[in-house]
Amino acid sequence: MSAVSQIQRLTVSKLRARKGGDPIVCLTAYTAPIAHLLDSLVDVILVGDSAAMVVHGHETTLPISLDLMIAHAQAVVRASKKALVVLDLPFGSYEAGPEFAFAASARAIKEAGVGAIKLEGGCRMADTIAFLTARGVPVMAHIGLLPQAIQTVGGYKTSGRTREEWAPLMDDAKAVTDAGAFAVVLEGMAEPLAAEITKLIRIPTIGIGASPACDGQILVTEDLLGLSVSGRVPSFVKRYTDLNKIIGEAVASYAADVRARRFPAAEHTYALKQT
Ligand code: KIV
Repeated sequence: MSAVSQIQRLTVSKLRARKGGDPIVCLTAYTAPIAHLLDSLVDVILVGDSAAMVVHGHETTLPISLDLMIAHAQAVVRASKKALVVLDLPFGSYEAGPEFAFAASARAIKEAGVGAIKLEGGCRMADTIAFLTARGVPVMAHIGLLPQAIQTVGGYKTSGRTREEWAPLMDDAKAVTDAGAFAVVLEGMAEPLAAEITKLIRIPTIGIGASPACDGQILVTEDLLGLSVSGRVPSFVKRYTDLNKIIGEAVASYAADVRARRFPAAEHTYALKQT
């Protein structure tokens, strides 16, 4: 007996074939309601380790565990049908070697049902990417600014402003491509370098702070929605709305209603209404 799924997600091979074509739209989600809203509008939903900062209030991405990433990914997969869902392997779950990376990826695929994993690092991760792809794990690579390396790099800096910085980053891009990654995130890169890398490699480049020269863009959804504790976003982010303000006003109205005892009883049952 065969089970025919109603879920027709974007596949990694279709995404890869978009190289040089229509720009690839990617956003992060960590919860079911956001995944549900994004699903029909984006190509890729990344369950980013930025969840550590955005949802859990940490200063960096480093503290989040694989268990927590899998729990977020389960919610995102449940609430989506079309987008390719990618789980970001968290710090400490894959760097010790290809076998560690495979064990973490296998958990992400089996327990959450994601279609691919993402990991940070260029040349130094090439063997791991080759090991994973040879064993059925689609890999999105991530080069340039690496938030998981914040403690060695010492800050969030753009790379490739001078030509002298280009060679190692171009080597990284070539290495992850040759190792079998189906796409690569370019984070915090000067436009001429991002353009050069995008021309050089045969897989799509997904920029974050890396200019429209890339084959697509990824942002942290809460950044473009204006939803955060600090109220600040990276300089390259266009903020499309101000949820901090909208939610603040709604909660203030609610608080005023409760204080004025304006809260009705349910009549008979908890009948649902469309909002
Ligand atoms: O964790 C994350 O959100 C990322 C990005 C590329 C947005 O890695």
